[in-house]
Amino acid sequence: MSKQILILPGDGIGPEIVAEAVKVLVCLRDDFGLALDIYEALLGGSAYDEHGHPLPEETLRLAHDCDAVLLGAVGGPKWEPLDISVRPEKGLLGLRSELGLFANLRPAILFPQLADASTLKPEVVSGLDILIVRELTGGIYFGRPRGVETLDSGERRGINTLVYTESEIERICRVAFDLAGKRSKRVCSVDKANVLECTELWREVATRVGTDYPDIELSHMYVDNAAMQLVRAPKQFDVVVTTNMFGDILSDCAAQLTGSIGMLPSASLNAEEKGMYEPIHGSAPDIAGRGVANPLAAILSVAMMLRYTLGEPVQADRVERAVAAALDQRLRTADIAAKGTETVGTARMGDAVVAALREIGD
Ligand code: IPM
Ligand code: MG
Repeated sequence: MSKQILILPGDGIGPEIVAEAVKVLVCLRDDFGLALDIYEALLGGSAYDEHGHPLPEETLRLAHDCDAVLLGAVGGPKWEPLDISVRPEKGLLGLRSELGLFANLRPAILFPQLADASTLKPEVVSGLDILIVRELTGGIYFGRPRGVETLDSGERRGINTLVYTESEIERICRVAFDLAGKRSKRVCSVDKANVLECTELWREVATRVGTDYPDIELSHMYVDNAAMQLVRAPKQFDVVVTTNMFGDILSDCAAQLTGSIGMLPSASLNAEEKGMYEPIHGSAPDIAGRGVANPLAAILSVAMMLRYTLGEPVQADRVERAVAAALDQRLRTADIAAKGTETVGTARMGDAVVAALREIGD
């Protein structure tokens, strides 16, 4: 039976980079016989412009019906003046929440070809292979009460709430332990247990879950230290599991270790392993429409889709090898350009990956 894929290009550079990822999907379908049906819908600012809402009914229905979603990015200055309830980001958060995508996997892997692209010394980052497991449907992003209220004095007060139930903590920790079992068997749980009761509970539950995984080494780290350790000695980490907001921040930090945020894909999975796949970078309005954005994070997100939702690990490997092959040809988008390489645009990079995919064969 065909797998149903929903494409949500989104805003800013989203449509440009997703177009390249779709070329990869189409190549897998047409040249390698993968049974795929591809649909497209609006999300974020582009959806607001058309329907007055960043997550239209039709998009949500298609997302529910499809096996996997590929998303570009949402947001941009055009929509910043809007009320927060209809801003593009709300569309993305709504989709994560409606589909129950609680487990966000953000691998930070350094392609050896890009050892010089990082702002850190090559010896600090070479061989880097970290997996950040970010809780995605709870925590301060969704906690109530929230909002801005006006006090009797007339002064306004902003409120957001950090909340986690034991079961929410337990299920994300289990995802991290299960994944660590297939890797170097180390999990570092990141919290702020010295200050926040909610993450004191997080630490307690992580420890309890850890007793079910005797072959996995569990460590705990405060988030401030984790941020420092990520830039000091990132290779000490294997799997990092953390809250929604800490994961948001630490994954941007980890991205820079790999040379560019333009290289990092992500998978957001629910309990049935249905997935939404998206580059972790944003909509980059400053370079949107110029054809210079790096499509590799979007293409690598397709590889994650093949691995985690479509049950096609061999094809996933092939896509990753095709990305490596394009880098071997010394092709670089502007964000990863270096001396001795050829700077190319979004489409040329996508085409190089597709050509390499064909060359690699079955
Ligand atoms: C991310 C992004 C989103 C987040 C924004 C766009 C809502 O920064 O996926 O990391 O904060 O989760
Ligand atoms: Mg982020």
